[in-house]
Amino acid sequence: MVSLTAVILAAGQGTRMRSALAKVLHPLAGQPIIHYCVATATALAGAPPVLVIGHGGDQVRAELGDRARYVVQADQLGTGHALMQVLPLLSESVHPAGERGTVVVTYGDMPLLSQETLAALVEGHVQGDAVVSMLTVAARDPRGFGRVLRDAAGRLQGIVEEADCTPEQRAIRELNAGIYCFDRAWLCENLPRVPRSAKGEYYLTDVVGMAASQRRNVHAVACADEAEVLGINTRAHLAEAEAIMRSRINRRWMEAGVTMPDPAATYIDSTVQIEPDTVIWPGTYLQGQTTIGRDCCIGPNTLIRSSQIADGCTVMMSVLESAIMEQGASIGPFGHLRQGARLCQGAHMGNFGEMKNSTLGPGSKMGHFSYLGDASVGANVNIGAGTITCNFDGARKHATVIEDDAFVGSDSMLVAPLRIGRGARTGAGSVVTHDVPADAVAYGVPARVKRMRDGPHEAGEHATDDQKAPRELEEK
Ligand code: UD1
Ligand code: CA
Repeated sequence: MVSLTAVILAAGQGTRMRSALAKVLHPLAGQPIIHYCVATATALAGAPPVLVIGHGGDQVRAELGDRARYVVQADQLGTGHALMQVLPLLSESVHPAGERGTVVVTYGDMPLLSQETLAALVEGHVQGDAVVSMLTVAARDPRGFGRVLRDAAGRLQGIVEEADCTPEQRAIRELNAGIYCFDRAWLCENLPRVPRSAKGEYYLTDVVGMAASQRRNVHAVACADEAEVLGINTRAHLAEAEAIMRSRINRRWMEAGVTMPDPAATYIDSTVQIEPDTVIWPGTYLQGQTTIGRDCCIGPNTLIRSSQIADGCTVMMSVLESAIMEQGASIGPFGHLRQGARLCQGAHMGNFGEMKNSTLGPGSKMGHFSYLGDASVGANVNIGAGTITCNFDGARKHATVIEDDAFVGSDSMLVAPLRIGRGARTGAGSVVTHDVPADAVAYGVPARVKRMRDGPHEAGEHATDDQKAPRELEEK
């Protein structure tokens, strides 16, 4: 039995990002870099990892909360020094009799490292009965990684940092990824013996040489995919990691039955869910806690953030934020659903429409240049071109209710608070300031109401010639 403790080093400053935000909190495919490292370490160890924090530590803690245990490294005196801060916690941990304590160390800026690779490292470590195991990579670009030193017989001797390399050592292409597995007891005994370097730092890499000189087993596991050990130090590295993460995410969705004609131009956050037989056209951004159902057609050129799209929906060249689309609803081109917008089953919102905190009921249509704010629209309503809910009086927002089967004429200004009754109509260009009863017609500026079953005019009201009967101005 092996009892695993995962440690993530993340106290470094990340100077080269040139950012007020802690390096490991920069977003990658929609989540902070550190999120991926923590998720992988947690899955491997079956418990939250120990995170060594320093620079930006408060930001990191605020982001992760109890998803990690924290150890603070007040001064950043190197990777060895960072791990030394965890020793009190490691020596405290008690293991059931017969269990061997194993410590896995990763970095907070290597989000692409997979759980499979870490598991292979641990397995090699346990089977090789090693005290230290390290992940190595054969990369064409050494990127400042330490070089792995072996003797003539191929036995591991140690690691030398690039800055300290002789020209011959510099040419070595077996690189130290910086990811290790340790026997806990051996580490607790030997890590404190790491000397301070000429630069004043404690190099974790020194322990490899220490184990070798003690003739203890040192094991190396080669990582086949160098992308996995891409450490993010600069914004350019961040963009590289983003491209790799994106292609991983997109491949996963294609394997799950999603069509993507141009995956390189399709931007899906790691937080998104998509059902099979949906097509995602290029220029589409799916972000946050977004879910997309089956048989949808999304894009091109669409941004959907934190929204729920049911089966059979179409979203073309539109922007959706915290919105809901029920089955068979469609939007676009050029629609904008803002916070709290809901298109009910089969509803359609077309060109240049905008909805905020509003519901467009089942089968209702809003085809052209309209705004619904704080409105509740029933079933089978037609919202004519250019309709506006005037929901804001300069101080407060007011609600509009439009009941089932109503017909709102083109260019109606609906001055809230307002209720338009079931089956009621408004005339083109009307400015409606008072409630319209069911089956009545309101028209004119300001609108007056005509009951359908009454005479042409309400008592005391009469339409002028320039206010044509609404029926002639019906909008498709
Ligand atoms: C280290 C290795 C190098 C390896 C490389 C792979 C050493 C001495 N060298 O170099 O052999 O090829 O990683 O990426 O270990 N950190 C702390 N506290 C510190 C210093 C660093 O927490 O005092 C953390 C950083 O936040 C980072 C990680 O450790 O996550 C690596 O630190 P970094 O300075 O980038 O190490 P390298 O010099 O690149
Ligand atoms: Ca580094």
